[in-house]
Amino acid sequence: MTLLVTGGAGFIGGNFVLDWLAQPEAEPVVNLDKLTYAGNLETLASLHGDTRHHFVRGDIADQALMAQLLADHQPRAVINFAAESHVDRSILGPETFVQTNVVGSFRLLEAVRHYWGSLQGAARADFRFLHVSTDEVYGSLGPGDAAFTEDHRYEPNSPYSASKAASDHLVRAYHHTYGLPVLTTNCSNNYGPFHFPEKLIPLMIVNALAGKPLPVYGDGLQVRDWLYVKDHCSAICRVLQAGRVGQVYNVGGWNEKANIEIVHTVCQLLDELRPRSDGQSYGTQITHVTDRPGHDRRYAIDASRLHQELGWKPAETFDSGIRKTVRWYLDHPGWVERVQSGAYREWVQTQYGAAA
Ligand code: NAD
Ligand code: TYD
Repeated sequence: MTLLVTGGAGFIGGNFVLDWLAQPEAEPVVNLDKLTYAGNLETLASLHGDTRHHFVRGDIADQALMAQLLADHQPRAVINFAAESHVDRSILGPETFVQTNVVGSFRLLEAVRHYWGSLQGAARADFRFLHVSTDEVYGSLGPGDAAFTEDHRYEPNSPYSASKAASDHLVRAYHHTYGLPVLTTNCSNNYGPFHFPEKLIPLMIVNALAGKPLPVYGDGLQVRDWLYVKDHCSAICRVLQAGRVGQVYNVGGWNEKANIEIVHTVCQLLDELRPRSDGQSYGTQITHVTDRPGHDRRYAIDASRLHQELGWKPAETFDSGIRKTVRWYLDHPGWVERVQSGAYREWVQTQYGAAA
C-alpha cells in the first residue's frame, strides 16, 4: 500500500509527508513535485536515505507521467497538494495558476480516473482521491457574517481563489459524473515550519530579524483564520481515513485574527526571544503599504462538520502554535538563508542529482 502525494516539497505537503512518515507503521509515499520556486527538497532532508520516501520531479499536468506513476506504484490514495498558492503572485501573473490549478488538476483527475477504472474489488472500493483546497474559494465575509460552512456559495475574488474554485468544481464533477471516490478539504490560512518567507508570518519574522520594514497591506484590519500546519495535516489524515466519499470538509482553527494583530504578536515574541540590540521593539519596523488589489476583508471557517462527523480538532492554540513557529525560524537560520539566496535550488542537484 502506497500513498501518492503531489506538491509534497511545498509548505503543507512537505509537513504532511514528514508527519506521515513519522508514524511507525506508515505506508510509503511517492512524492511528485514540479519543484517550482515554492518546492524545496531541503524541507525533506531528514528523509534522505529513507526507502519509504520516493521523490519524483514532475508536473501534475503531465498526464502520461501521472498515469505511469499510478500504474507503477498502485497507490491506495492520491493526495493533491500541488498548486500555485500565493495570491500576490496570482495578481502579477495569473496564467501559471490556471495552468497548474485548473489544467493540472484536470489532467491529474483524468489519469486518476483511468487508474481507478482499472482497479477491482477492495482496491477499487477503498481508493480515495483527496483534493486539498482553500477557504478563499468562498470569497470575503463582512464583519458580522457567520463563518463559511461547506454550503456557502463559491465567490472567489482573486485569480488564485478562482483557479482553486475551478479545481474544486472539477473534483466534484468527477465524483458526480464518473463516481470517482473523492474527498475535498477547504482549509483556512496555515502557518508553521518550512513556510516560504513571502507569506505573511514567515515574511514578518525574517524581515524583523534582518532589520527590514514589516509591510502591512492597507489598514491591516483584514481578518484571517489561522491554523497550525500540523493540525491541517492531522485533519487531512482523518478525512482520508474516515471521510465520506464525495464529501467536502472545511478545516479551520477557530482562530480569527486581524493581520496587524498577527504582526504585533510576532514582534512581541521576537522581543522576548531575540531582543533587538538597541533595546527597541521590532514593532517599530511596522510600515503600512499600499493595499493588495481586490483584497478579501475577512475569512472565517466553520469546521463543525469535521469535528462532529470525524471527531477532529486542532491540537495547537494560536498562542502555542505561533510560539513554536517563531522558535522554529530562530532555530533554522540556514533553511531561511538558503531560500532567500536561492541556494536551496542548487541543493536539489547536490542531494538528488539527476533524479531531480
Ligand atoms: P506551496 O506553494 O508552499 O507548495 C506548492 C507545491 O506544489 C510546491 O512544492 C510546488 O513545487 C508544487 N507544484 C506547483 N505546481 C506544480 C505542478 N504543476 N506539478 C507538481 N507540483 C507542483 O503551497 P502550500 O501552502 O503548501 O499549499 C498546498 C496546497 O494547500 C495548495 O493546494 C493550496 O491551495 C492549499 N492551501 C494552502 C493554504 C495555506 O495557508 N498555505 C491554506 C489552505 C489550502
Ligand atoms: P498571505 O500570507 O499572502 O495569505 P492569503 O493572502 O492567502 O490570506 O497573506 C495573509 C494576509 O496578510 C493577507 O490579508 C495579506 C496580508 N499581507 C500583508 O499585509 N503584508 C504582506 O507582506 C503579505 C505577504 C501579506
